[in-house]
Amino acid sequence: MRDKVVVVTGGFGVLGHAVAEAALAAGAFVAILDREQADKISARDRLLVPGSVDLTDFAAVKQAFETVAARFGHIDGLANIAGGFRWQTLGDGDLAGWTEMFHINLLTAATATKVALPYLRATQGAIVNVGAAPAKKAGAGMGAYAASKAGVLRLTESLAEEEKNAGVRVNAVLPTIIDTPRNRADMPKANYSRWVKPEEFAKAILFLLSSDATAITGAELLISGRT
Ligand SMILES: NC(=O)c1ccc[n+]([C@@H]2O[C@H](COP(=O)([O-])OP(=O)(O)OC[C@H]3O[C@@H](n4cnc5c(N)ncnc54)[C@H](OP(=O)(O)O)[C@@H]3O)[C@@H](O)[C@H]2O)c1
Repeated sequence: MRDKVVVVTGGFGVLGHAVAEAALAAGAFVAILDREQADKISARDRLLVPGSVDLTDFAAVKQAFETVAARFGHIDGLANIAGGFRWQTLGDGDLAGWTEMFHINLLTAATATKVALPYLRATQGAIVNVGAAPAKKAGAGMGAYAASKAGVLRLTESLAEEEKNAGVRVNAVLPTIIDTPRNRADMPKANYSRWVKPEEFAKAILFLLSSDATAITGAELLISGRT
């Protein structure tokens, strides 16, 4: 990843932060796009945070990518990590949760990807989208979340086909449970040693972004640890 430029959405979240750190450690230049403003990561020459960005706002995302390209010269990779989770049944929940999940999980990825494509075509770059295991098989209360993440998988699938001739690779990773503070708080009795550490997960994302994965596009990689 040396000297590659990677844009990480949701880079101030748990997984996004791990990916940003791993990419920096691998010698990449990193831009974090997140709506949080952050002192969550220490400033470095190879790190750019172009302000607070709502990833569903096309104009704001476009401006952020222009800032990244102006600073680093090119863009080689996009890790679409921004997302979120809400548990609610359809019967007892509100419909606003469906809009929220659609926006946070799917529209963020579609918007960042649309803006990124011209840059990635120029470098034969790569995209990694973060889906989720329930996108394949949802449990109770997971309807809106799973539907939005299933949308991420279909986006990955169709975009991989659309971009084959342009040379942009598009893959998805599917976590089950990542070892995050929120998951520990929600599941205090779980065996955390079986969960995937964010740093372990980050390695898989970096691999798919890297030139070691030039033969891989349109793939869905389940990353489940021992869950
Ligand atoms: N943690 C798990 O066990 C797990 C399991 C399956 C899938 N995943 C997926 O993995 C990804 C990362 O998970 P995580 O646990 O690291 O999540 P996280 O800590 O909540 O990080 C997500 C980040 O994305 C940001 N974000 C969300 N919507 C945004 C928007 N419209 N514009 C800009 N930034 C936005 C969030 O900001 P706010 O905090 O302001 O919302 C947050 O900083 C997500 O896509 C998630 O669905 C996680």
